[in-house]
Amino acid sequence: MPQFTSIFSWSLIRHIYTVRTTREEMEREEQRWASTAGFLAACVGSAVGLGNIWMFPYRAGKYGGGAFLAIYIFLLFIVGVTGLTMEWTLGRSRGGGPIKSFAVMPFGKYLGVLPTVTMFLILSFYSVVFAWILRFFVGSISGEIFRESFLNDIAFQPQSLIFCIIAISITTLIVMAGVKRGIERANLVMMPLLFVLLIILAIKSVTLPGAYRGVEFYLMPDLSEMNATTWLMALSQVFFSLSLAGGTMVVYGSYQSKNRDLTLSSVATSLSDTAVAIIAGLVVIPAVFAFGMEPGEGPELIFVTLPKVFASMRFGWIFAILFFFTLILATLSTAISLLEVCVNALCEHLKWRRKKATFLSALLTMASGSFLSVNENFFEFIVDLSSIYLVILGALMASIALMWFYGSKRARDELNRGGRIKFGRWWEVMGKYVYPAVLIVILLAAALFGIG
Ligand code: TRP
Repeated sequence: MPQFTSIFSWSLIRHIYTVRTTREEMEREEQRWASTAGFLAACVGSAVGLGNIWMFPYRAGKYGGGAFLAIYIFLLFIVGVTGLTMEWTLGRSRGGGPIKSFAVMPFGKYLGVLPTVTMFLILSFYSVVFAWILRFFVGSISGEIFRESFLNDIAFQPQSLIFCIIAISITTLIVMAGVKRGIERANLVMMPLLFVLLIILAIKSVTLPGAYRGVEFYLMPDLSEMNATTWLMALSQVFFSLSLAGGTMVVYGSYQSKNRDLTLSSVATSLSDTAVAIIAGLVVIPAVFAFGMEPGEGPELIFVTLPKVFASMRFGWIFAILFFFTLILATLSTAISLLEVCVNALCEHLKWRRKKATFLSALLTMASGSFLSVNENFFEFIVDLSSIYLVILGALMASIALMWFYGSKRARDELNRGGRIKFGRWWEVMGKYVYPAVLIVILLAAALFGIG
């Protein structure tokens, strides 16, 4: 009898153990991209966001048009390709998000919390702007956006709370469905659609009578406009726009299989992200010029100036609906990637199930998002803090962890494994010296002179 019990309990334990491992294996298997196309769509989805469609056109409008654009493209290639490949390699070689990956360096486990918190803060302010965009989308159907005071009527008002909660709920549903079935599938649909819509809008904008002056302002670099501020703004824009902060891209890289490409994907991601920023500028700036308005309006450019442009345009309401729908796609795909970093951290370190982790992250985001959506000053503080300083700090730590502690040669071998193109020694020099040096310079300049 005792023998029977022990055999019984032994097999019971074994049974439970096998069930448990298969369940964990299944979850791990689900945590992988099904294809490189899916990985790319998700990375482009994360990169293309408010940074491209909202910030880029107004910053270009404010900091010298073509001069800003020229510097941006130059930096994007130097810094962007290196940064993306470093963050992906870090995540893939260490098999996890920032907390696990940064652990190669002293105190790394604790330092890795910083990018995770940064992603949460970006997500919080993103959900506020996402709410406005949803409200503008509804308003473009009802015609309310043509009211001069529309932005003031909704922004930082209690009614935006509801839209903030809707925005987070949509994001949560996709993340909850998983990496393959939720994030990858959604992006594979949303990204091509976003490109097509933007191109339609750009064609409309540049063919408006009088639009050529805008095209000229935007595409002709005026060298006298190039000063230190232009460089600084363009640099911080590159990091923000490519989601380089030691968070999102580290996590997304950890979901890519070791025998798949990272090198060519980094070129493709940088190119697509720039293409979207450029096209978004071509949607906004020529149209603004065509109706004799100012492109240097600042953050309100797409929310205040653009609705006026739509109002004066024939069939403007159709373009307004298309424009705000495109913005929803861009914002949603980015919000997903930000939420995923929080979910990943909870699953990895507290061993929570995905559903529970997503649910809790969503609740926290709703709390912080709701708080920011009625506190304008705090909102601005969080935007600057997270999108400039914390992003740069996170990107700096990721590059140091990989190139200095994990080892640049080892990192390059890891990166080139499965790569359609192979990166040479230049990559080690860029990643180990140039990239961190550039980051330290921007960080110091931002701290000393302030940018934003
Ligand atoms: N790249 C996004 C944009 O352009 C913002 C973003 C998403 C981000 N994930 C990030 C910025 C991680 C920094 C770090 O809107």
